[in-house]
Amino acid sequence: MDWGMQNRMARLIQDDGHCLFLPIDHGYFQGPTRKLEKPGETVKPLLSYCDALFVTRGVLRSAINANTKVPIILRVSGGTSMIGKDLANEGITTSVQEMLRLNVAAIGLSIFVGTDYERESLLNLAKLVDAGEEYGIPVMAVTAVGRELGKRDARYLGLCCRIAAELGARVVKTYYCADFDKIVNGCPVPVVIAGGPQVDTEMEVFEFIYDGMQKGAIGVNLGRNIWQNDYPVAMIRAIDAIIHHDARPQDAQEVYNIVKNGK
Ligand code: 5RP
Repeated sequence: MDWGMQNRMARLIQDDGHCLFLPIDHGYFQGPTRKLEKPGETVKPLLSYCDALFVTRGVLRSAINANTKVPIILRVSGGTSMIGKDLANEGITTSVQEMLRLNVAAIGLSIFVGTDYERESLLNLAKLVDAGEEYGIPVMAVTAVGRELGKRDARYLGLCCRIAAELGARVVKTYYCADFDKIVNGCPVPVVIAGGPQVDTEMEVFEFIYDGMQKGAIGVNLGRNIWQNDYPVAMIRAIDAIIHHDARPQDAQEVYNIVKNGK
């Protein structure tokens, strides 16, 4: 690995080998999202607890102060919407010059394995890896499932992750599922756990993160379950405890309660 690539990876993945990425890129296909109407305000109290922010260039420029020390993972795929014909028909939205101008630590793109646009999204990934590797910018592949939630099992997600790694992604983000170790064991690059829609209780989130980490994930890329929570700072600090301080789900719940109650 060249120095630039190594340096960017080290900014993303902390000395303990773990990471907490905070995504706020949802608007790129779903428009205004609850609690993310003003992304700058949403993330302000959370920035000091995350290891990177996953964001599009539009929100980065308009809502994030350029003096931030938080590494940026730039969302560079898109071109489709929730109401369009096919969410999977994404392209690469951002030039390499723009990635460099924005001084990003990494770039992220979704792949849609098993859809009509499987080939296009995988070739987009390969193209992005070519560009990223030339300038020392790591690519994070996002295994998107669109609306087909039924696909979230270890066999399918393991296939997606392995293909992403084979095409050169340096990190892969995928959904938590049972037998998460099967995904990690079949993937030669680090795997981070995606979040998904907000679930009913904080404990459910702590449990899936803890289990995923025990099974080899290096961290999370988790948004709505943090900033849609009524106590987002309590939530991110509880998750930080699992990721960087070996907390178990019960310990994380305690952190959450303490921060929530302002003690
Ligand atoms: C969408 C994404 C988003 O970054 C991710 O899904 C957002 O996180 P969460 O689901 O936890 O709100 O990659 O494909």
